This record gives sequence, C-alpha cells and structure tokens, in this order.
Amino acid sequence: MSPSSLKSRRVILAVTGGVAVYKAADLVRRLKSEEADVTVVMTEASRRFVSPLTFESLSGNKVYTDVFSDPLAHVSLPAGADLLVIAPATANMIGKLASGIADDMVSLTFLAFRGPVIFAPAMNWRMYGHPVVQRNIRTLRGLGLLEVEPEEGELACGERGVGRMADVGRIVEAAKGCLSKKDLAGRRLLVVAGPTREYIDPVRFISNRSSGKMGYALAAVAARRGADVTLISGPVALDPPPGADVVRVETSEEMLEAVKRHVREADILVMAAAVADFVPEDYSPVKREKGEGFVLRLRPAPDIVKAVSGTGERPFIVGFSAETGPDTAKARRKLEDKGMDFIVFNDVTVDGAGFDSDTNKISIIDREGIADYPLMSKEACAEVILDRCVELSG
Ligand code: PMT
Repeated sequence: MSPSSLKSRRVILAVTGGVAVYKAADLVRRLKSEEADVTVVMTEASRRFVSPLTFESLSGNKVYTDVFSDPLAHVSLPAGADLLVIAPATANMIGKLASGIADDMVSLTFLAFRGPVIFAPAMNWRMYGHPVVQRNIRTLRGLGLLEVEPEEGELACGERGVGRMADVGRIVEAAKGCLSKKDLAGRRLLVVAGPTREYIDPVRFISNRSSGKMGYALAAVAARRGADVTLISGPVALDPPPGADVVRVETSEEMLEAVKRHVREADILVMAAAVADFVPEDYSPVKREKGEGFVLRLRPAPDIVKAVSGTGERPFIVGFSAETGPDTAKARRKLEDKGMDFIVFNDVTVDGAGFDSDTNKISIIDREGIADYPLMSKEACAEVILDRCVELSG
C-alpha cells in the first residue's frame, strides 16, 4: 500500500503572532489526521493568542518558543524534519525571513532548515498589498518557498479584503504536494468522475449513488504527483480538486462529448464515473402529470470507454467495475470487452467501500493477474492505482 505523502513525515509548524493563530491549532489536527509527526515552534507574540499547551496537546510533542531554554533546538529540530510550514506568517516574520534576520525560534529554525518551506500569510489587506510586503514575498518565492496565498473575506479588523489565512485544507494540500513523488510530471491525465443524470422531464431524472469522491481523489493525487489533470465531472457536491481543470457535465451524452473533446490530449484516461447505464427513451419537455403512473422505456446509454478504446490513437485506459458481490468475473469480461489496460474492481456492498464513503476496497485486475488491497482511504486507493498506471504505461 502506498502511504499518504504525509504519513510518518516530520513536519515543523512555525506559528507567528496574528489572530489566525487559532487556525494553526486546526492545522495541527489535520496534519496529525494524515499521520504526520508535527512539532510546533512559536514566536513570543503568537503565545499571546494561543497557549503552547494547546499545540502540545494537539501535536503530542513538546512546543518550542524560547531559544535560550533549549539552545540547540533550532538546529536539531530542522535537521530531522521533512517540511517546514509557517502558518500564520505575519508581515513581520515574512520581512525577517526575506532579509535573513534570525532572532527568534521561528526565524532561526528557518535558516537552519534545508528542505521544502511553505508559508501562509495572514494580515490586514492593506498590509498584504503593501509594496514592501509584496517585495518580501517575491524574495521568499524566488528562494523557492511556496506561498499558500491568503483569501479574500472579512478580516479580524472588520474590514474586507485579501489577507485571511488560507483555508487549512489548502495548506494541508500544499504540504502533501511538497512531499509527493513527481513521477507523473509531464503526463496528461483525463479523469472522469461522478454520476450522470438522465432526464425524464425537466424536473426528474434517473441517476445513481456516485458521490465523485473516488474520481476526485484520483484527480487530486495525480495533480500532486505532477500530472497535468483534466477532470470531467458529473453533478457532485465536492470542491474542485486542487491543481485540476474541471469540466462539468450532467448527462451521459454530455460526458461522452466532453471525453471525446479532451481525450486527444490525454496520455491516460481514468474512467471512475458511474455512467447511468440507461437513458429514458421519451423525454417529455414539460413536467409530466402525476396521474396514475406511466411506463418508462429506457435505452442503453452510450458506452464512453468503448468509444475511446476503439479509436486508433487511444490513451492508456483504466476503468472501474462496480459490482454487488465478490465475483470478479464480470470485471474481467469488461476489461476485455471495453479494451481497457486495467480495471479497478470494487464490491459496493462491502462496508466502507464503493459509493459515497471516504474509503474503498479495491482489486486491480490486468492481463497479468489480480492484486487485492485492504480497505483504505480513497486517496490511498488513488495512489496504488496511479502506481500501476506508471508501471504499465511506461
Ligand atoms: O463516486 P464514489 O461515490 O466515490 O463511488 C466510486 C464508484 C463506486 C462510482 C467507483 O469506484 C466506480 O466503481 N466507478 C465505476 C462504476 C460503474 O459504472 O461501473 P460499471 O461496471 O458499470 O462500468 C465499467 C466501466 O465502464 C467504468 O469505468 C464506467 O465508467 C464505464 N462506463 C460504463 C457505462 C457506460 N455507459 N460507459 C462507460 O464508459
């Protein structure tokens, strides 16, 4: 099983003094839920907002604030770390780091660290837009630091503008991106996710239970691993995965057309979508009366994978097979009939697998055999599926 990119990685979270310090507590929690080993270093000013005890309790590690009580910590801590995240990063700290000032635990740790550094500015919008701050940010970016840009919204001072610390999810995603392997760099992936809707009349449709989570996880992990990702998505309630271009569709016909349009530029097609297999034959352009009920005739939906695999210049094709039992025979047939390179089997009746859950239990079937995986997060499933893509697609 491929580990999450943060699992067992040693992350130093440097916290500097602004109102957004309370969000850093949530950041520790999120990094810990990804199984990272988090150590917090704080400036004196940040201690005024949140006590070190909070960070110590959440991280399970000692918190460092005073350079002199542990004089070698600013050297020994960074020596063993994989990533430094500075969040929130104040205008003062950004200025210090850009000019090499090292007079507190955070700035000393920064200078002693060799590895990827992420910073998430948080301040008033006029401060953030000030040419001096912008110049310092450019300096840090020029040195290879990754800025997770602040967001627009209501600020602690009551004003509105760009200056709110980035959502914690974006910072975690940036951390994962920094520590991910980049074995898909230069590869173009087309991922298709979610359900389709097949309309009976303007207000009713048939569909299925796909939430899009499996396909969105594939798109996010592929982008993190350096791929150029286009995600064609049926209607779902998910945020767009960072780093992917999203094309929204509703019906199987729209999905087919979008796949045809984008597949020419793709090296790899991953078809995680649950296409509604049937389309109502007689669409009524006006809302049907309730009345006594009626007979709904259905025709097969267009087969999207077949439309691509039958063409001369086809990409490497990965399909999915959602089944309601453990027998993999149907999946093997689909692999052959649809001309896929490999197929991911998932039994959607298994607890925690298939539709809507954050986890899945998959088997990867190709012409060489079958590999079974335990129940794991959809991101972890995406990692092993993409590992197999890399192995088989050359
Ligand atoms: O979205 P989630 O809630 O996270 O759930 C994930 C999932 C269960 C939807 C996903 O893991 C999955 O199994 N997707 C494929 C579901 C499916 O439709 O399987 P199938 O056995 O019916 O189709 C086989 C393959 O042909 C699939 O790659 C499918 O996308 C494709 N297909 C199906 C019908 C059709 N008309 N055209 C197609 O291209």
